Amino acid sequence: MAPNPPPILSPYVAVAIRNQFGSPVYVYDESTIVSRCQKVMAMPNAFGLDVRYAMKANSNRAILQLIAGQGLGIDASSLNEARRAMLAGIAPNRIMLTTQEVPIGQDRRDLEGFMAEGLIYNVCSLRQLSLLAQGNADASRISVRVNPGVGAGETSTRNTGDHYSSFGIHQNELPRVLEEVRAHRMVIEQVHTHIGSGGDPELWRGNIDRVLEMIERLFPEATVMNLGGGFREARMPDEVAANIQELGAYAERRCREFAERTGRRLKVAVEPGTYIVANAGHVVATVLDKKWSGPEGFEFLILDAGMETNTRPLLYGSRHPFTVISAEGQLLSSEFDPAVSTQAGRVVAGRCCESGDCQTLDEAHEVAPRCMADPAIGDIVVIGGTGAYCASMSLGGYNSHGQAPEVLLRTDGSLLCIRRRQTLEQLTVNELPLSPSGN
Ligand SMILES: Cc1ncc(COP(=O)(O)O)c(C=O)c1O
Repeated sequence: MAPNPPPILSPYVAVAIRNQFGSPVYVYDESTIVSRCQKVMAMPNAFGLDVRYAMKANSNRAILQLIAGQGLGIDASSLNEARRAMLAGIAPNRIMLTTQEVPIGQDRRDLEGFMAEGLIYNVCSLRQLSLLAQGNADASRISVRVNPGVGAGETSTRNTGDHYSSFGIHQNELPRVLEEVRAHRMVIEQVHTHIGSGGDPELWRGNIDRVLEMIERLFPEATVMNLGGGFREARMPDEVAANIQELGAYAERRCREFAERTGRRLKVAVEPGTYIVANAGHVVATVLDKKWSGPEGFEFLILDAGMETNTRPLLYGSRHPFTVISAEGQLLSSEFDPAVSTQAGRVVAGRCCESGDCQTLDEAHEVAPRCMADPAIGDIVVIGGTGAYCASMSLGGYNSHGQAPEVLLRTDGSLLCIRRRQTLEQLTVNELPLSPSGN
């Protein structure tokens, strides 16, 4: 049994959700999101803490409003994400923009307008910096994202801090940054790194030391050390989550030592996405079919939710827990229940015409069966740990499957639809016919 099992969707609630909203459907547990927000806001710190939710993890309007209501700001990864946060009622001065985009034209004018209203621009390339220097923005409060050369992620594609990664300005190029900043009277208020998602907490601690050293040596005006997101989450019983209180305590101690040595009282900023929403989310799916691939092969369950609903296994070989529930609501197996070890290994596939449409893949993209009960057609499989980078990263439209709806399980037990199921009309609304007659 995991020391701290993530919240499980009760069979009764799973059945009620499917009855009301159909299948497949994403469900988010409000109380888990709120308690995660409160835990991050309570991280130990020496001279202040800014928490911005990395909205790329789950950008649904109601989720943004819920999280902003807990006092978190927003980390946006594109201008459209920043605009989307504003559409949710979040003011520009609660948003920081960290993007690979290079906004020009109207986008640049919008960015400059948002900066005038308090949005913090986290400059991620030398080109972004020189465009800022040439433009009309108030650059007296900017941030710079540094690629520190050392990263950490749950897989290599989730590592954003080493030489395989194009994120940020490499530390060796910082002298050029400082030259440009001096020449244009810009002020670097924050020094930002995000070394990856789900990596080793030890490397996260090492990053704190590295950034402090960099700030002391190169950034005399910086007042904020921004450590990005990336707290490791445990979705599976054998995974261990990062201890964020312990990480906060380490940052607090190092900031106090820094202050004693330099007289500078640095604030810390963090940008968790996964930690806030991953284990609050579940996909409720239905068993459509069962197949067998021969004596050397596997027992397959075909669900109505696959790579278009949860792309993470195909992208990263990531594992998500399965709960099997009968159509009447009886719990048949759970990855968090030791009795499951007596069950046979099965492969969980989706319904897309794509051999990678499989929820049970390992990092090498090999099919990796998992132990679970043998459900009947029409039974329910709940895919856990799907609150982050699932709905927001879904492969919209592949095989013309519409996006599944999203439902919030409120703290009082009620169910609120926060995104409707996408219809075929919505899927094709921007397509134009070959001939003007429309046929
Ligand atoms: C700049 C930045 N901040 C925060 C995050 C959030 O990371 P996580 O969801 O692992 O907490 C990411 C993820 O890619 C990121 O690139």
